[in-house]
Amino acid sequence: MKKAIKLLSILFFFGVILMSCEGPAGIDGSDGTDGADGVAGADGTAICMTCHNAGTAYAAKFDQFYASAHALGTYFDRTGDCSGCHSTDGYLARMDFTSTSEIFDLDLTEQSAISCRTCHNVHTAYDATDWALTFTDQVTETILGLDNTDVASGVFEDMGDVNMCVQCHQSRNPIEVPSATSTTDVNISHYWGPHHGPQGNILNSQGGVEVGTGYPTTAFNPSTSFSHDCITCHMNEGNHSLALNESACTSCHSDIEDKLAAIQDEVEGKLTSLGRTLAALGGLDPDTETETVWNETLGEHVETIDTVGYHAMGSGYGGYGDNPVAADLGRCVFNYLIIAEDQSLGVHNPDYIITLLDNTITLVETL
Ligand code: HEC
Ligand code: HEC
Ligand code: HEC
Ligand code: HEC
Ligand code: HEC
Ligand code: HEC
Repeated sequence: MKKAIKLLSILFFFGVILMSCEGPAGIDGSDGTDGADGVAGADGTAICMTCHNAGTAYAAKFDQFYASAHALGTYFDRTGDCSGCHSTDGYLARMDFTSTSEIFDLDLTEQSAISCRTCHNVHTAYDATDWALTFTDQVTETILGLDNTDVASGVFEDMGDVNMCVQCHQSRNPIEVPSATSTTDVNISHYWGPHHGPQGNILNSQGGVEVGTGYPTTAFNPSTSFSHDCITCHMNEGNHSLALNESACTSCHSDIEDKLAAIQDEVEGKLTSLGRTLAALGGLDPDTETETVWNETLGEHVETIDTVGYHAMGSGYGGYGDNPVAADLGRCVFNYLIIAEDQSLGVHNPDYIITLLDNTITLVETL
């Protein structure tokens, strides 16, 4: 308040000079005396209540967010690169870092799970401008991953607000991923592969080991009048639950459920059979679930073991492998994993995923 009064009196002072004389300005006058304190501002609680009250935009987003996977808070209390994508503090440090040690050296006590603060400037101006997004910089390199020129990855199209999503939803540390043509053995292990969130790479028609030909070279965006991106599909109309809102699709796709099911059925069928083949070849190990079911013929409960997916075969820790396999098998294993970890069964980029899958199946048939 005092500063504002001082500024006003200075502006007034110069205004008078400009109006009254035409020669060069004289030297600055000395500061005036401080003005008196102003009257008290509006009730602070009223400002707080514009957000912290039932029925506000805040309240709706709050409920949606806390029912979403983003609020699960897995692995936020880990040091190392995990926090760069799994914690608020790690993410903000990573976006701003001048050296990777700023993320790697974060204390466990400084970590908190993903929250409104990860993405919005909470309690900055205490008004609607706080909803601006924290970071929307274009992703031009895999910040934590090894920059692997063989697996085209890391430079994504500038997608505005969506850049925020793909800062975290991208492949992580693809250690020793073979190129499409390399001949050296690939050292794989249980944790080897693109991690669990390579959706950004896939949307950008990147990330797989591109054996064969026919790949799209631009990001998946099949309509000029609708952006098929992370936010339009998962946060349509600002829905923070992350669920797909099919009513946003029906104006153009009257049969959206059938359309998605057709893509997913094709990809799921081919991916499952690729997984089975790669397991038989010593590249993948099954992830299993044990179920107890009633067997009518035997008249007793029996245990069944179902395969629900696969991981790379080996027991080396981290991304580092202890199971060297031939380059072609390594390429096929990586492509299986990135399509499985993308989790959309083709929807994130039907052309790219189906081309990668078909070309990988052609290669595996030669092994
Ligand atoms: C523009 C909206 C907005 C306004 C205005 C606002 N808050 Fe908040 N507040 C938030 C958000 C968003 C969070 C984070 C909630 C979360 O992450 O679960 C929050 C969290 C909080 C928390 C929980 C502890 C914390 O910091 O996370 C308290 C306490 C709080 N606010 C008090 C206040 C008070 C007091 C005022 C008024 C001076 C105020 N807020 C004004 C949006 C607002
Ligand atoms: C480049 C960003 C990034 C880094 C770094 C990262 N993760 Fe993740 N991780 C993700 C994303 C994004 C998902 C969510 C994928 C999804 O739901 O499809 C995820 C999911 C997971 C999951 C599966 C969670 C579940 O609910 O199934 C585990 C486990 C996990 N991460 C562990 C880790 C660990 C441990 C580290 C560090 C050693 C780590 N992550 C580092 C981005 C990252
Ligand atoms: C993963 C990032 C992310 C998190 C976490 C997140 N938001 Fe958002 N929020 C967004 C994005 C992106 C938009 C813009 C959506 C759009 O373009 O339709 C948005 C929009 C909003 C808006 C509308 C802003 C406007 O200008 O109309 C509000 C209000 C909001 N969020 C509140 C919250 C609250 C409250 C929380 C925590 C409970 C939260 N958000 C957590 C990403 C996030
Ligand atoms: C700070 C990193 C980060 C940012 C930014 C981020 N995510 Fe996530 N996202 C994650 C992690 C980590 C998970 C997995 C949460 C878990 O399982 O604990 C996840 C999970 C998800 C899921 C999975 C939901 C499910 O049911 O499994 C979707 C969908 C998703 N995010 C979409 C988005 C979108 C859209 C944006 C951009 C508005 C975004 N994310 C921004 C890290 C992030
Ligand atoms: C064309 C719409 C569309 C776009 C664009 C899109 N998604 Fe999805 N996404 C889906 C559908 C559909 C699924 C599969 C959901 C299912 O089958 O249950 C899915 C699945 C996922 C999952 C797995 C967890 C879940 O909810 O099943 C994550 C994580 C995810 N998407 C994140 C992203 C991110 C990050 C982006 C942007 C890089 C993105 N999506 C872009 C429609 C889309
Ligand atoms: C404004 C019109 C419009 C809206 C709205 C729209 N799309 Fe599309 N979409 C298109 C066009 C045009 C194409 C390319 C032609 C085609 O495949 O139908 C397309 C293609 C697709 C494809 C690729 C189909 C393939 O086989 O290659 C998917 C998947 C898709 N849309 C999903 C969605 C989802 C999910 C939504 C809702 C969140 C949505 N679309 C909303 C216009 C739209």
